[in-house]
Amino acid sequence: MLMVKYLSRVSLIMNDGFNTRAVQSGEFRDKRIGNVTTPIFETSTFYNPNPNESAYTDHTRNKPYMYTRWGNPTLESLERKYASLDAVEESLSFSSGMGAITSSVLSLLKKGDRLLSVKELYGETFVFFTRYLPSIGIDVDIVKLDEMNSGNVNLNGYVGLYTESVVNPTLGVCDIQLLGKMTNEAGIPLFVDATFATPYNQNPSKLGAAFTLHSGTKYIGGHSDILLGLAGFERKNMEAVWGKRKLLGASPDPIQAYLGLRGLKTLGLRMKAHNENAFEIAKFLSDHKRVAKVLYPGLEGFAYNKIAKRNLTGFGGMVSFELAGGLNSARDMAKKLRLFSYAPSLGGVESLLTLPAETSHLSLTPAERKEAGIADGLVRMSVGIENKEDLIEDLKIALG
Ligand SMILES: Cc1ncc(COP(=O)(O)O)c(C=O)c1O
Repeated sequence: MLMVKYLSRVSLIMNDGFNTRAVQSGEFRDKRIGNVTTPIFETSTFYNPNPNESAYTDHTRNKPYMYTRWGNPTLESLERKYASLDAVEESLSFSSGMGAITSSVLSLLKKGDRLLSVKELYGETFVFFTRYLPSIGIDVDIVKLDEMNSGNVNLNGYVGLYTESVVNPTLGVCDIQLLGKMTNEAGIPLFVDATFATPYNQNPSKLGAAFTLHSGTKYIGGHSDILLGLAGFERKNMEAVWGKRKLLGASPDPIQAYLGLRGLKTLGLRMKAHNENAFEIAKFLSDHKRVAKVLYPGLEGFAYNKIAKRNLTGFGGMVSFELAGGLNSARDMAKKLRLFSYAPSLGGVESLLTLPAETSHLSLTPAERKEAGIADGLVRMSVGIENKEDLIEDLKIALG
């Protein structure tokens, strides 16, 4: 008799609220033991105790567990919980967001294929598309976000379209609704990196995306202490993505997967606080005399506000801005801040601040950065869940 069950589709339906699914879905429960939370299956290999009985499923969901790079119950719990939150049929976890992106894209593209992508990408994704893929015979054409959002792109000849739902670090919002419709009509998959939006602010699959990608290192982990990636897709793509993950060695280790699983349980509570704090800070900065420009999807005056309202249910925890004095003023402000640590990455409970030209987008040439709208003095903040009054006071003092 099967004693283990994953609490997921069987007992939870999509009508349950986000936080209910976040807490309850996907947990690996063994009736013989009565564990409430999923254990960390810290094992590299598995033996099959009952070769004659139907074994528990693995990552192709139909073979016994064998080796953790193939699949592991802790990873599977994380994948099932994530899938229920992002409304995807299937999901796989990865050792990092880049693992999720490279494995998913390579699962579909082969030599001679062409991919169309937005230009405003996370730096390493841009490098993957413009340096690595061409070196193995896959061409990537790049268009600016605004051109993509105009809908005026010809999809003939492309095997897929790639975008980020809220772009890093300029926070432009991609019209996934429109691109989902266009790609479905053209019969090609839409890949969406929704790291900034998270499953709380957007479910790209509901807007027509075939692949949803996340750096789980960020909001999903939520505590700046892991590296993790997640990909969600239709069941028909499972075998291909799983095959690439296994081949490229991009599976996460069970401890990282456990921390991702734990992070997901509070994603809704944390995102509510991130959304609220960032919106307040964006408004504060907009009114400050030393601030030249604020980029935040929720601001009425922001160029992408209307698209954001149609595509997102919350505007997120990221705020970017430029000071009137440019780079020197930004450095000076960063030194005076008490609560915002000067560090790259994002999505943790603590507030961080970085200059993307020196960190996340350092791999780009100065000309590529200019094209992507990343001034040397552009500041990107990951607003944490601290009390917003304290964060605003900190900024007030640092800005002088
Ligand atoms: C939007 C976005 N996608 C993907 C990545 C890559 O994620 P990871 O660092 O987990 O590989 C990052 C990292 O900063 C990111 O910001």
